[in-house]
Amino acid sequence: MWAQQARRALLRGPSAHRQVAPDQSAAGGIVPLLQAEAITKHFGNVFAVEDVTFRVGDGEIVAVVGPNGAGKSTLLKMIAGLERPTSGQVRLAGRLVHARVPHQVRRQGISIVMQTPLTFTSMTVLDNATLGAMFGPGHGVLTERRARQRAADSLAFVGLAQRADDPVASLNLHQQRFLELAKALAGGPRLLLLDEVMAGLNETEIAASVQIVRSVRDELGVTILWVEHVMSAVIELAERVIVLNFGKVLAEGTPKAVMRHPEVIDAYLGKAHIA
Ligand SMILES: Nc1ncnc2c1ncn2[C@@H]1O[C@H](COP(=O)(O)OP(=O)(O)OP(=O)(O)O)[C@@H](O)[C@H]1O
Ligand SMILES: [Mg+2]
Repeated sequence: MWAQQARRALLRGPSAHRQVAPDQSAAGGIVPLLQAEAITKHFGNVFAVEDVTFRVGDGEIVAVVGPNGAGKSTLLKMIAGLERPTSGQVRLAGRLVHARVPHQVRRQGISIVMQTPLTFTSMTVLDNATLGAMFGPGHGVLTERRARQRAADSLAFVGLAQRADDPVASLNLHQQRFLELAKALAGGPRLLLLDEVMAGLNETEIAASVQIVRSVRDELGVTILWVEHVMSAVIELAERVIVLNFGKVLAEGTPKAVMRHPEVIDAYLGKAHIA
């Protein structure tokens, strides 16, 4: 009941108009939601990301996989405005994303959930989610009452409504990841970036996470670009997979096609954490 009301409330937000079914814009002539154009990041002599170009269509779930150090997190951080590309551009719905100002990137409609929760542990679950609601796209300045309502709806969406008044420190890792997701959703993103949000979870928790990520796309219409090592989840959820290796795109395609790719097997799958 709570969850249904929360879904309706979140849909009344800026996500409401979005297309729910995956589209084919990545292959066709429509402007894709996300365009990464030759983005490159060098840290001194380390070529973390090298000339990476790809597109994500509105409503797609696209996974990014690859060995440790392949540049996956750096790629997400550049899209989120947390790292400035050495060269190249990121566009959201055709508009340039300004890389140096993370809160402006969030206002443009991009939210990121990192592997390590960035919650304020001395605050309550609801207070944390409220911070997420206050820095979302299209909201302008929300009154505290509206921000708290949006935060409460997001917590209900991820199943944490009962924990709203608890301190964050009382949540386990799985619940903290869901809180991070609620914070991101409270901001009403068009594009959600997820960085290894299933790492360290048990099978039951992974299954619950797969279900929630799917409903974020199917019910809220949010497009998802998702870095993940848990290949069973990638196969279940992603429509397309981009494989990074040494900062470059090694392969791109459906999960099944990519997993049969000999270079992907050599470079990555032999070492993947198959859950
Ligand atoms: N702030 C930084 N300063 C210097 N080097 C960095 C920085 N961030 C990342 N790197 C380097 O860039 C490369 C890519 O790192 P990145 O964290 O993007 O890899 P990843 O694919 O996310 O790896 P993992 O699977 O272990 O999370 C690595 O060689 C890493 O050491
Ligand atoms: Mg990483």
